Formats: sequence, structure tokens, C-alpha cells
Amino acid sequence: MKTIIEPFKIKSVEPIRFTTPAEREAILRRAWYNPFLIRGDDVLIDLLTDSGTSAMSARQWAGVMDGDESYAGSRSFFRFERVIKNLTGFRHVIPTHQGRAAEKILFSVVGRPGKHIPNNTHFDTTRANVEFAGAEAHDFPTEEGKQPALIADFKGNMDLVALERFIKEQGRDAIPLCMLTVTNNSGGGQPVSMENIRRTSQMLRKHGIALFLDACRFAENAFFIKKREKGYARKSVREIAQEMFSYADGCTMSAKKDALVNMGGFLALNDNTLAEKARNILIVTEGFPTYGGLAGRDLEAIAQGLEEILDEHYLTYRIRSVEYLGEKLVERGIPIVQPPGGHAVYLDAKRFVPHIAPEQYPGQAIVAELYRKGGIRSVEIGSVMFGKTDPKTGKLISPPMELVRLAIPRRVYTQSHIDYVIEVAQEVYKDRKRMKGMRIVEEPPVLRHFTAKFRPLS
Ligand code: F0G
Repeated sequence: MKTIIEPFKIKSVEPIRFTTPAEREAILRRAWYNPFLIRGDDVLIDLLTDSGTSAMSARQWAGVMDGDESYAGSRSFFRFERVIKNLTGFRHVIPTHQGRAAEKILFSVVGRPGKHIPNNTHFDTTRANVEFAGAEAHDFPTEEGKQPALIADFKGNMDLVALERFIKEQGRDAIPLCMLTVTNNSGGGQPVSMENIRRTSQMLRKHGIALFLDACRFAENAFFIKKREKGYARKSVREIAQEMFSYADGCTMSAKKDALVNMGGFLALNDNTLAEKARNILIVTEGFPTYGGLAGRDLEAIAQGLEEILDEHYLTYRIRSVEYLGEKLVERGIPIVQPPGGHAVYLDAKRFVPHIAPEQYPGQAIVAELYRKGGIRSVEIGSVMFGKTDPKTGKLISPPMELVRLAIPRRVYTQSHIDYVIEVAQEVYKDRKRMKGMRIVEEPPVLRHFTAKFRPLS
């Protein structure tokens, strides 16, 4: 087989800025060793997130020019709505400025104290929105999904036995809906199988509970189903995606991922009453229903992006380029979550720096080192992001995994950028025994990873 190439040529370029080791040391100190506090201009290769960092296509930019900025009844909204209805089959399409705005609206309607939201694994903003509404968020990943070194096809799956037990314990009235995140971002970007989606849906229907997909990376998930699940090899990714949505009653979507745009999202659903309540909140917090939190040009770019994302040459290249990074790291003995995810490779910090305890934030230490050695920005997904303080003992309750995510922006970096990342990661790994942990000097009450301040332990 020949090399899988980028299925595009480059029309417009953006320079990246090189820094010296001394500059990076000073930048790190000034940013309190928190990658969110480093300026974009000080980053050489930015793997902080795949969200809102995509390169738009010429057709999307053409759509930007062509956007209809009518306050009400914009032509661009009707295209946006048509494309989403065609893909998802949902009756109501509600545009929002990004994914978390859709979550905020959804959970303002269904969440309150005494309510519980299950998910395979909540993303941080989803959990925060559930909790902000006064409800409780619960994760049900499978045992497989909690073992970073284990290679399996669908480690993003929901643990259906645990979910059903939970439903029986809480009673269906306490569970307004169940979410399923595709792909499972916090669990390593791992896909959910069609069988798991179907069985989750069937079980929830039996109990009279609605299923919502957190659909940010639906196309990557659909492509994994095509490649890995029996019976799907000959179906188009579009058909597979449509089948995924057919088992759900609605979805939240951050268009900043698989709609290939820099800003945008939506809530889509079938229930008329819920949709009416959601639109009422939308008008107060986002905007009129035919633009929500977006400009007409954004709606146009999203509609175009949702068509482009289903191109199988694109998805072949996308999934292969992430796999390539994972493969080369593994060849060098670097521990990662296996197999590589759809949008990112996750370093397994527990095995990378076993001498640094969760209380000393091993992932955060690796994040700092990747920047120090190569100007690469990554993000910790472990005790910094998901750790809680036990109110009784004051001790850290850490999540099952300590990870560092190298998220790959869509259509942005070429293979030589990725080869450079591999070289830097190898250098960091070689020196790992000398690495020290971190302590938090200051942190906010919620979503602390965005603004917490760190210092290295001496
Ligand atoms: N759900 C998942 C699974 C996500 O990964 C994200 C965002 C959201 C919801 C929220 O969407 O950012 O548009 O409000 N994830 C980004 C990330 C931030 O870096 O993984 P948003």
C-alpha cells in the first residue's frame, strides 16, 4: 500500500514562532506551568486541543462570504438545519455558540437537585454543566476502557450492566436523560461501537429514558465503526453516522471538532416540549432561534464542514495520522493509551513517570517538559482536570488514569510537524527519571485546570 497522504494542498499558510530554551523557561514560569496561560504566539506546535483549531477549506471560506446575516430567517440557517436534519434525523435544530452552550441549555431544562445524568464519560464542561444545574454526573466506562495498555476496538463503550444497575437504584424519574460521548474524549478518544449504542438505546427505551449523543467527534467514531465492527465495512461513513443518530433522541454538538470550524455548536432533538423550553432559554442567553449564538457565515461554514468531514479520504488520512504518531511513540517505548484515539494520542503519565505520585500531578509535569524541550503545548487529563478534594480528609481523590493529551488539530499539521513531536517526546522520555512533580499554588473552585497556578517541586 502507498503512503496515505494529506487529501488537500495548502493554499494559505500561517508562520509559527521559534523560541530559545531560555525563553521557554521564562515563559513557563510566567505562565505558572499551566499551558492555558501560555500565549499562542509562544507555542511552536499546538496540541492543546483539536477544538476550534481546524483549518477551514476554500469552500468553507467561500461560505463565509456567502453567509446571510439576516436577523431572522437567514438562508444560512436553513442550509445548516437541512444538513443537520439530513445527518441526524432530529426534528429540532438549535444553533449555539459552542458545545457547552448546548449543554448549558439542555441541563438547565432537565437538570436540578435530585437528578442524575449517566454518561460513558463526561467531558469536563459537560460534567460542569450538569453540576451547575444542581444535578449529579456519573460515568460508566467499561473495565476495558480503564486499562490504558490494553488494545481493544471499542474502549469508549458504556458499561451497560453498571448503567442498568444504576437506573434500578435511582429509579427512572431521577434520570431525565442519559448521554453517550462519541468518541469518548476523556477516556482516551476511544470509539463506541454501534452495538453498544444500539444496546444502550434499547435498554434506556425499556426504562423510558432518553438517549442523547455528545456528538463532537461523530465522524471519527463512525469511521472506527466502519474499520473495526463486523458488518460495516461496506457501508458509507454517512450511513453509519445516520444509524448512530437513529438510536438517539437528541444530541449536543461542538462544531469546533467534526464540523471543521473555529466556533459553533448545536443542540438537536426530537421532543417538542423540550425543544420549546430550550428555545426559550436560547433567546435569552444565545440569540434568536435562526442564528442562536452564531453569525450567518458561521452557520454556512458549519454546514459545509459537516459535508466535508464525511469524506472518507479525509477520515482515512485523519485516523492514520493520529495512529502514526501513536505507533512511533510506542516503537520508542513511550507508554500511551492503546490504541491511539481518533483525535489525539494520550501519554500514560503513570507509566511514563512512575516515581511521581498522583498528588504531585505527573501529567502536568510532562506537559511542562514537552513545552520546555520543544515548544509543544499539550494538556493534562488526570488529577488536575478531574481530581477532587475529599471534604473529610482534605486528600486528593484522583481519577483512574493520569494522561497527557496530544490533540491533533484537523488539517493543520503535516507529517514533518508530527515527526518533530515524536523526537521531542523521545527526548523527554529519555530524561524522565530526572523529572519532578508539581504543586498547586492557587486554584479556582470549578474547572481548575484552566487557571490553576503551579510550581515545580524542588
Ligand atoms: N463534549 C466533548 C466530548 C468535548 O470534547 C468538548 C470540548 C465539549 C463537549 C464542549 O464543547 O468546547 O465547544 O464548548 N472539548 C474541547 C477539548 C475543549 O479540548 O477536548 P465546546
